[in-house]
Amino acid sequence: MQTLALYHLKGGVGKTAAAVNLAYLAARDGYPTLFWDLDPQGAGSWYLEAEASEAIDADKLVKGKLAVGRLVRPTRFENLSLMPADFSLRYLDILLRKVQGNDALKRLLAPFREMFTLVVLDCPPSLSHLAANIFAAADAVAVPIVPSHLSLRAFDFVHEEYKAQGHKPRRLHPFFSMVDRRRRLHNELLVDAPKRLKRRLGTSIPYASVIERMGQERAPVGSFAPRHPASLAYEALWQELKQRLPEFSN
Ligand SMILES: Nc1ncnc2c1ncn2[C@@H]1O[C@H](COP(=O)(O)OP(=O)(O)OP(=O)(O)O)[C@@H](O)[C@H]1O
Ligand SMILES: [Mg+2]
Repeated sequence: MQTLALYHLKGGVGKTAAAVNLAYLAARDGYPTLFWDLDPQGAGSWYLEAEASEAIDADKLVKGKLAVGRLVRPTRFENLSLMPADFSLRYLDILLRKVQGNDALKRLLAPFREMFTLVVLDCPPSLSHLAANIFAAADAVAVPIVPSHLSLRAFDFVHEEYKAQGHKPRRLHPFFSMVDRRRRLHNELLVDAPKRLKRRLGTSIPYASVIERMGQERAPVGSFAPRHPASLAYEALWQELKQRLPEFSN
């Protein structure tokens, strides 16, 4: 099992859109995949969930008497399961506080080894205890960057923090997101990307209204507009990421 996090300190940069589409593509490739919605806002769950979750005995879960796997839901898509945002909203903080250090999320993920080949973590935008747990749990952290100086500056923070927590920066995978070719700055930054992005993924995700339509369709773009350039971009991104995930590249 490999764990891929879509993370950035910045909000609204396309983390959830990428997480949903990458998880969908992995599942479509035949890999049993879990989309874990770590954001209490629950956008990812809303895109994927077919029905409401059953009520869970919170006390038992927090005391460790109920397996966290019980919260996993099927989706309408073959091979794709969902850990809904409900979990993050109600229990995650408590569970993270129970374990010293930053390994609580990693431990929560361990039992899923038997069930899934890939876990995609859709992360909320912040640098927090949760972010430290995400860094410790993820084999790869993909960081969507809207081409702007502020966004690059935020990436520098992420990069520094990731290193400061003892992780290897080669596990960070920035890529350009919401790229609008009509904008001069976007073109300039793409052509002449700063040195600190030299290991970025080559694929950029274009700014496209079809991605906004995911909210209407409640589905990944690849499922309702498979030939659209945005869908093809997510596919190329998935192929690239696969090469960077040790268990997939062999
Ligand atoms: N490439 C894109 N082109 C056009 N719109 C996009 C694109 N990617 C995302 N969006 C839209 O921008 C908004 C923010 O996207 P998304 O929710 O994926 O970002 P996020 O980084 O997960 O945000 P948050 O930090 O709030 O979780 C959404 O309305 C989404 O539909
Ligand atoms: Mg999001």
